[in-house]
Amino acid sequence: KAIEQIKLVENSSLPAAKTLKIRDVSKYPNQRVSISGWIHHSRTQKNLAFIELRDGTGFLQCVLAGDLVHPSIVTDLKREATITIVGTLTPPPENKSAQGGLELLADYWKLVGSSHADLEGILNTESNVDQLFDQRHIQLRGKKASSIMKLRSIALQAFRQHFYSEGYYEMNPPTMVNNFCEGSTELFSFDYFGQPAYLTQSSQLYLETMLPVMGDSFCIAQSYRAEKARTRRHLTEFTHLEVECPFITYDELLNRIEYMVCDVVERMLKIDKELFLSVNPNAKVPKRPFMRMNYSDAIVYCQKNGIKRIDENGQEVDFQHGDDIPEAQERKMNDQIGEPIFLCRFPAEMKAFYMARCPEDNTLTESTDLLMPGVGEIVGGSMRISNYDELIKAYKREELDPSNYYWFTDQRKYGTTPHGGYGLGVDRFLTWVLAEEHIRNVVSYPRYLNRCSP
Ligand code: 4AD
Repeated sequence: KAIEQIKLVENSSLPAAKTLKIRDVSKYPNQRVSISGWIHHSRTQKNLAFIELRDGTGFLQCVLAGDLVHPSIVTDLKREATITIVGTLTPPPENKSAQGGLELLADYWKLVGSSHADLEGILNTESNVDQLFDQRHIQLRGKKASSIMKLRSIALQAFRQHFYSEGYYEMNPPTMVNNFCEGSTELFSFDYFGQPAYLTQSSQLYLETMLPVMGDSFCIAQSYRAEKARTRRHLTEFTHLEVECPFITYDELLNRIEYMVCDVVERMLKIDKELFLSVNPNAKVPKRPFMRMNYSDAIVYCQKNGIKRIDENGQEVDFQHGDDIPEAQERKMNDQIGEPIFLCRFPAEMKAFYMARCPEDNTLTESTDLLMPGVGEIVGGSMRISNYDELIKAYKREELDPSNYYWFTDQRKYGTTPHGGYGLGVDRFLTWVLAEEHIRNVVSYPRYLNRCSP
């Protein structure tokens, strides 16, 4: 026998409902409210339906009964359908917990947008990584992924709070450029109205030009690297927080990086500790000061602790001064030591052209990489060459055409100053602070080798 159709009607004799976001429910116990959101999960039991409603600010258990779950309309209550539920916020039955200590006993609901049953086939526990990231727009709605996206927003808020409270100004650099900062091998190039152009690897050179304009400066922009690396911590597009400070010393640079990292974690805990700990139960502010280890001591550490490099013939051999310490070995050392490490004073030939030399040894640079256990390098920074002639020589050594950099060189011509700065990979920072296995999990739509969609 066909089921008779029913149409729900809101009871106009009830008190007017206040429209709320889920984050605010605890302020309205025993009041009639109206909440709109997505059906995160639903379960029907005879003539009752339990809906976990999600609105981006939280999750709320809603209970529908009687005609509200009439067979002719209950099929509308599919996962991810959008609905408005009106009812009274009530303490849940004993021994059940609820968001804000309350659940919503509905007296009326209305479908806003239906959801297709085929959703259940899009992603499941068998889905491989490629399938998951093809459906990233759906995957992001999950509890873990959406918490990570919110914590990413909170981290960006905390970075900005930190720099504004320390008196820095923020600039917006261009990301389409005609020069490079970190070497030419990792550039994405494109045609800019007939001229060759690149997607920027780093905004540092532009940020340096802001020092005479606004003093301590920072920017948060996308950087691009055509790196064919398929590792847990490499993206081809990443969010780069960069910082420049005039009239500082190398030691002050290290102190500023250390303070910034600790202060940002502390601020994140202050903004939403519960959410933060729900993703990383061990999240805490790291202990200061961080270990400071010269590159030369890292070589000795590797020699003494059996960390070896692979030579051209595939043989394991000891590291020697001048060898680059690859990611895997660097991480091994970092994980053995088990705390943040500033690796300092790298040989000049390993580092970018703009880095200042150490006064005590001209073959070394006043540079640093900050390594974090589990992830590795999250910050790269240095003091910059502030002397005009020295910078011209550095271009020559790297076979760079100085005419492309006249605007950068001019900083040394019109009022130079000792200065230093750094770049922090926001995605790497999040991978570390959220204890995520893979960097792609902390990015909304990650770009890496073989993925530039959706
Ligand atoms: O060490 P890098 O290459 O330094 C620079 O680009 C400097 N110009 C920054 C500066 O001093 N203003 O990059 C800085 C940071 C790294 O420590 C890392 O955290 C991140 O950027 N990074 C990447 N993150 C994800 N994927 C990649 N392929 C990355 N390459 C660098």
